[in-house]
Amino acid sequence: MFDYLIVGSGLYGSTCAYELKKRGKSVLVIEKRDHIGGNIYTENVDGIQVHRYGAHIFHTNSREIWDYINQFADFNRYTNSPVANYQGKIYNLPFNMNTFYQLWGSRTPAEAQAKIAAQRQELDGREPSNLEEQAISLVGRDIYEKLVKGYTEKQWGRSATELPAFIIKRLPVRFTYDNNYFNDQFQGIPIGGYTQIIEKMLTGIEVRCNTDFFTKQAEYRSLAKHIIYTGPIDQYFSYQFGKLEYRSLRFESERHETPNVQGNAVVNYTARDVPYTRIIEHKHFDPVDTPHSIITREYPAEWQEGMEPYYPINNELNDSLYRRYRALAKADTKVIFGGRLAEYRYYDMHQIIGSALKDLQSMS
Ligand code: FDA
Repeated sequence: MFDYLIVGSGLYGSTCAYELKKRGKSVLVIEKRDHIGGNIYTENVDGIQVHRYGAHIFHTNSREIWDYINQFADFNRYTNSPVANYQGKIYNLPFNMNTFYQLWGSRTPAEAQAKIAAQRQELDGREPSNLEEQAISLVGRDIYEKLVKGYTEKQWGRSATELPAFIIKRLPVRFTYDNNYFNDQFQGIPIGGYTQIIEKMLTGIEVRCNTDFFTKQAEYRSLAKHIIYTGPIDQYFSYQFGKLEYRSLRFESERHETPNVQGNAVVNYTARDVPYTRIIEHKHFDPVDTPHSIITREYPAEWQEGMEPYYPINNELNDSLYRRYRALAKADTKVIFGGRLAEYRYYDMHQIIGSALKDLQSMS
């Protein structure tokens, strides 16, 4: 009998597996996909590391987490500096002095601040009642219309006036010429991809891919003293209170016989009439000298049965549903629920590691 059965070989499950093995525990990992790594999985396609489930950039402010992940791979000094394409014109992101110059010709912070302040006036001190008003109150109409509106509407599949204001709590505005998207002290991409990290974490551990916990639940349960479950929490409890909602994504990849297609890893398409939200050119994350390149278009989609659930929709209804499932989970002492699906929340990779390390403290 194993000490632990871990359902899911994503970053959460694999961090737990690695740490438990270090403590001398016997561990079995089962994974329903045909590969390990969950959504951070990268695959080598003709020499290029392709991020199969969307762009993944590691960033953190914690030296402890940075040192932790660096045990498993060398990281490059990639700095995320996406650009936006709106009706054929290019703008720097996040909104900074470069963007303000491109939009209005503003050369100084004072000029840009004055422009934004004037555009905010249109709300006349009113409390924003929807996402459109919230965005205008934060950054003014020009940035909203060119860089926020279409992108957000595509992401959520709804018009910005029908979306609640709380979705956008703040929009990063920077009055320096700095295109670095993240404020964190550490950021980078593992040279050679993310999958090697998971492979190293799972070295010496029995892993069964193409194995869905729910197909032979009783049998898998009987194999271990404890279970760490990283799948969807509502599925674990047979959707007894109803289904939690998600937004999904569809990825379309293309090989180009040219070494450099768009000159940047991430280009956002912010107009509503372009059906995808961004194009990723994988080789710019982890540069390689190849005569070809691979790009992926990312299309937001309504989540339906059988699709990958990517982004939890944390509105009041879903959150209260989640709390009911969470109460059942707390009562189940044999099972630890962790990771983005079992906790029904969006987690960045550094947060997943932090949360796994914290949860491990209470495991015997
Ligand atoms: P994850 O979903 O990776 O793993 C769960 C695993 O459990 C999966 O492999 C699944 O197949 C398996 N499973 C589920 N049910 C099962 C069952 N019944 N039986 C067996 N196996 C089962 N973060 C970041 O820091 N920087 C970034 O740039 C990005 N970018 C990004 C882009 C996109 C599009 C998304 C959706 C997310 C990001 N992230 C990110 C977040 C990152 O992907 C996330 O933090 C981790 O992948 C979460 O790891 P988990 O192990 O929790 O879930």
